[in-house]
Amino acid sequence: MTCSLIKGTDISAGIYDEIRDRIAKLRECGVVPGLAAVMVGNDPASQVYVKAKEKKCAELGIRSEMIYLSDNITEEHLLSKIKQLNEDKMIHGYLIQLPLPDHIDTDKIINAIDPKKDVDCFHPENVGRMLVGDHVFLPATPGGVQQMLIRSGISTEGKHIVVVGRSNIVGKPMAALMMQRGIGGDATVTVVHSKSKNLSEITRQADILIVSIGKPLYIKKDMVKEGAVIIDVGVNRIDDPDSPKGTRLVGDVDFDDIKDHVSAITPVPGGVGPMTICTLMDNVVKAAELSIQAQK
Ligand code: GUN
Repeated sequence: MTCSLIKGTDISAGIYDEIRDRIAKLRECGVVPGLAAVMVGNDPASQVYVKAKEKKCAELGIRSEMIYLSDNITEEHLLSKIKQLNEDKMIHGYLIQLPLPDHIDTDKIINAIDPKKDVDCFHPENVGRMLVGDHVFLPATPGGVQQMLIRSGISTEGKHIVVVGRSNIVGKPMAALMMQRGIGGDATVTVVHSKSKNLSEITRQADILIVSIGKPLYIKKDMVKEGAVIIDVGVNRIDDPDSPKGTRLVGDVDFDDIKDHVSAITPVPGGVGPMTICTLMDNVVKAAELSIQAQK
């Protein structure tokens, strides 16, 4: 079977053209969109993600402020930083990079973010608005995957979409978006996770399989229906003695094993990752646009 690659790098390029136009309009009104990212501790994967966000902001002309805090910071100190960001007129949106150290209550921190600046769409108010179909922001990865499907011409209407993983960041909001009424939704959605029984039996029923479980190369050919569309959200670094670095990035899906069996698949890297950052940038620009409307 011929399998097409769904490349987030290509799809996001078109969206960035639209975002650049919106940034130019904001600048004409004297507004430079501003994003802050707070990173607590020095988790290597989080550092890579935060640097990628900073680089994209610089490319687009979004002001960015990266705030690095020690992993022994107190919850009170972090909450006071959040209060400052909530009040900072130059920052239209900000995010707290997760995971946070164990001594910090992540829910308490997320609840303290001003929902109008919550460009990750993690605050319960924004999650609730998304769930009822009245969103301000879309969560970065699920929103990015939805755009990816729409812009690749892959209809979700009436399809059976199986989401593998139930995290607050990907699995749960992904399922919510896919079942929403309208373009990029209208699907029949099943969510499977680590406690699901007969997982392969269910994944084999998927017309579109969206995988986010953080297990390298977990999904194999025998778990997938022939001709299915595969969206691989996973990013895992594994040892590879053949690569110059001794490691390489792979998804949660065994790409080489299934590529001749499916109709379309996202590569890792270059698939979902670029779409995630793109949705975040879209949210920052939206936050800046809404800040102007609020002043009128
Ligand atoms: N950690 C893993 N993914 C994300 C994300 O999208 N946003 C934040 N803030 N932290 C993350």
